[in-house]
Amino acid sequence: MEVITSKDKKTASKKAFELLQEDIKNGAKVFGLATGSTPEDLYTELRHSDVDFSESISINLDEYVGLSPEDPQSYRYFMEEHLFKAKPFKKSYLPDGVAKDLDAECKHYDQIIAEHPIDSQILGIGRNGHIGFNEPGTDFGVTTHVVELTESTIEANKRYFDKVEDVPTHALSMGIASILKTKHIYLLAFGKEKAEAVKGMIEGPVTTHVPASVLQNHPNVTVILDEDAASLL
Ligand code: GLP
Repeated sequence: MEVITSKDKKTASKKAFELLQEDIKNGAKVFGLATGSTPEDLYTELRHSDVDFSESISINLDEYVGLSPEDPQSYRYFMEEHLFKAKPFKKSYLPDGVAKDLDAECKHYDQIIAEHPIDSQILGIGRNGHIGFNEPGTDFGVTTHVVELTESTIEANKRYFDKVEDVPTHALSMGIASILKTKHIYLLAFGKEKAEAVKGMIEGPVTTHVPASVLQNHPNVTVILDEDAASLL
């Protein structure tokens, strides 16, 4: 794992943007994308750049169960607003949170991932060490699956909703096995509230209790932090 610490989120996101541009120069065409506050500045950099994704594919990590693409809290909506409207991809995939048969949707998503091996994968990290929506305890061998969100994740994500009862209790998430197959992983983490999870990910044992610790087993991970997220290292 390469760990890069910058003074703040903005500087760190610029660094991530520069590194991503190198991947693009080297032929990266399939991008694994994440939602949440963490990649926002990176997406701003991309929106304001001359990067052209019109021949590229994007595959997002996850989506809430029960939220349609038009729902402002859905991850599809987030991606449209933060990136896709300004920088359209040839094709952008997210799990379908309103699919009638969620298990079939998981299989379908695995097929999409298999057909488009991911070159560059953007990841954030949850306060409890989750990646995508792979919560603590998730088997490292799983592919796309339906997840019951933990209380800690619902609590952390309620800031986007009017009230905590509105936060969906379930999500569809790309699995850890698929994340580990991507060529180059960028894990971004900012803020004091991520410091504990970052420490566990980098310095702790590889354990399902801290899903991100599995990234120690991947050969090409760049961790990009601000000083607060790196403060316990
Ligand atoms: C969410 C998402 C993750 C994200 C994480 C951190 O639950 N499913 O993909 O990385 O939690 O979110 P944030 O970046 O807002 O701190």
